[in-house]
Order: sequence, then structure tokens, then C-alpha cells
Amino acid sequence: MYLKKLKLTNFRNYINQEIVFINGINLFLGNNAQGKTNIIEAIYLSALGTSYRTIKDIEVIRFNENFCRVELEYTKYDDYISDSHHIEVYIDNNNIKNIKEDSVKVTKLIDHVGRLPIVIFSPDSLDILKGSPQKRRKFLDMICCQLSKSYYINLQEYNKCLKIKNSLLKKNIKDIDRDYISIIHDKMSEYIYNIVFFRNEIIELIQKKSKIIHNKLTDSKEDLKIKYLSDFTNLNKDKIKIILDKYFEIEIFRKSSLKGIQRDDIAVYINELEVDKYCSQGQNRTALLTLKLAEFEVLIEKKQVVPILLLDDIMSELDQSRISFLLNYIEQYQSIITTTDAEFIKNIEKIKISKVLNGTIEN
Ligand SMILES: Nc1ncnc2c1ncn2[C@@H]1O[C@H](COP(=O)(O)OP(=O)(O)O)[C@@H](O)[C@H]1O
Ligand SMILES: [Mg+2]
Repeated sequence: MYLKKLKLTNFRNYINQEIVFINGINLFLGNNAQGKTNIIEAIYLSALGTSYRTIKDIEVIRFNENFCRVELEYTKYDDYISDSHHIEVYIDNNNIKNIKEDSVKVTKLIDHVGRLPIVIFSPDSLDILKGSPQKRRKFLDMICCQLSKSYYINLQEYNKCLKIKNSLLKKNIKDIDRDYISIIHDKMSEYIYNIVFFRNEIIELIQKKSKIIHNKLTDSKEDLKIKYLSDFTNLNKDKIKIILDKYFEIEIFRKSSLKGIQRDDIAVYINELEVDKYCSQGQNRTALLTLKLAEFEVLIEKKQVVPILLLDDIMSELDQSRISFLLNYIEQYQSIITTTDAEFIKNIEKIKISKVLNGTIEN
């Protein structure tokens, strides 16, 4: 995928801004709080239909305005001529959000996600290694949902069941309808089976890609492994149901769900040591870079298109050798990079530097 143009109307600190992208590195340079991340957020919002920085959509509307609009033009291939597509996201103060793809209204987000695959790498990405299991599941789900509509549906349906189950668990024991729970567990087992199967497949693929990337990044000094941790790997639907039923007896006393894919996790190891517990900050950063590039490669392989690479303020997090590796790697693709200083830019041909100053962009 290749971004051609982004138009922002009343989005965050932008009033009316058009940005034209090149097929190469698009570097947005500026001090803090000028509007660099807002550009990344706008692209993310167009691709996934929600922002990653806020829960309330209306927060992205420029202060004292009633609506905002983000328009993104992209092509599937890098010829920049054929096959041009448009995404428009409109949000207003009445909590109306309309997304249009090539002028057709998107009624379900599931139909939209995955059309314009993206990979985002920001300082927050370190949470994938250092943060809670939820952050790692989010990392995985973002890849899986962009790859498979059916995965996304399974996840949504599973979460609906989980919500119902949790509300039932809050009731008095004698009021809990066992037959109903059995029906819910039956449905959940099927969703779990599908989700675990796909997560497993994707982690194996990430592992395969990571190994090669990490070897290159560390001159073969480090061996990176990624492992999927789930109570349900290699189990069929019936066995999954047995586990859910068995744990239900404890769950009714604890009044919350104990088993399920909402407990899945990923463990990352360098030379057999868990990265977050035993490895240095530098090793963590390198491992993260590996995982992000592996994510990028998995999306390329499975979707047969190149995702949009969004790198928000990460250059300050990486040392010179990793920056050189990264720049060398991304040079052949299109990327959107934000930074406060451009010192690391050397000998790059396909680059467009734009200065960001208080919600305006100088090309
Ligand atoms: N809804 C909004 N309306 C107007 N300005 C906003 C809104 N949300 C954030 N901002 C402004 O955007 C700026 C932060 O933009 P950001 O892209 O995060 O900066 P950076 O260049 O550091 O990445 C701040 O000045 C903030 O006040
Ligand atoms: Mg920023």
C-alpha cells in the first residue's frame, strides 16, 4: 500500500492541512507538541477506524470546532497511478462517526479493518515487552485482525460471550442457570479453538521472521524466540469445553472468569532468557525492533501487499547501529517517520522532510 495524500480538517491542532507523500521516507520534523504524532494518529484512524490515543472519538476534533474530517488517498501498488482509493473519516460533536471507503459508507468496522494494513512503532510499543499481557495480546490481535476478518469476528463474538458470562457470575450461586452457561461455553469453545489456532499460526510465522531479522541485527550473537502461552493450544473444541466447564465450579466462587483466551500471553526470549526479566534495556529495544519488523513481514507475506509503516518518535530510542539497520531496511518501502531531530539522516535518497510547526506543515 502506498499513501498519496492526507487531508486534515479540524483534526487535533490542524485546521486545514494537505500532506503529499512520496514513495520513500516521509520525515516529519519538529519540536514537541507541534502536531507530529497527530499525523500518525490520523493515518491510524483512517486505516483502523479508531484512534489508539483516545477512547472518546470526539477528542480528536479541534478545540472549539463541531466536526473533523480526515481524508486519505492511497494506492495498492507503487505505480501511484492505477487503483487509487479513498478513505474518509468524519467525526462530529454529536458523537457521529462516519467512515467512507471510495464514497461508500462503512457499516461494520470489521469490513474496513485490514484493507489498508499498517504497522505502528512508537515509544509506547515497548509495552509489548515490558507491559501487561494485555499489551501483548493487543499486539497479536492487531496483526490477526488485519489479516483475517473471520478472526476478528470470532474475537468479537467471544468477547460478547465473556461479557454475558461475567455478568452471570456476579449473580447469586443459586440463581445461575447452568444450562445457559453450558450453551455459552459451547459457543466459547468454538471461538477459542479458532482464535488459538490462528494466534498459534501467526506466532510461528513471527518467530520464523524474527529469527532471521534478529540474527542480522545482532551479528548472530543473539537468538530470539517467541512463544505463545495459552491453556488451549492443540486442544479440540470438546476438550476446550471440558476445561471451561471444570473451571466454572471455581469461577462461581471467585465471581469472575479464570480460563479463556483473555488470559493468553506471549513470552520473548533472547538466548533462552526472558527478555523483560533478564535482558538489558538495549536488548529489549533490539528485540522490539525485531518484533515490529517481523510484524511488517508477516503482513506482507500473508496479505501480499506492503503495509504502511508508521514510526513515531522512535529514533531517539535507538542507538546509531540500530538506526542504520532500520533506515537501510525501510529505504525500499514507504514509511512515515516523526522525529525531533534529523541528525540520523545520512545518505538517504528517497526522503521528503517536512517541518511541523504548531499545526502547520512546511513542505
Ligand atoms: N483536540 C485538539 N484540538 C486542538 N489541539 C489539540 C487537540 N488535541 C491535541 N492538540 C494539540 O496538539 C499538540 C500535540 O500534538 P502531537 O502531535 O502529539 O505533538 P508532537 O509533535 O509532540 O508529536 C498539542 O499542542 C496539543 O495541545
Ligand atoms: Mg509525538
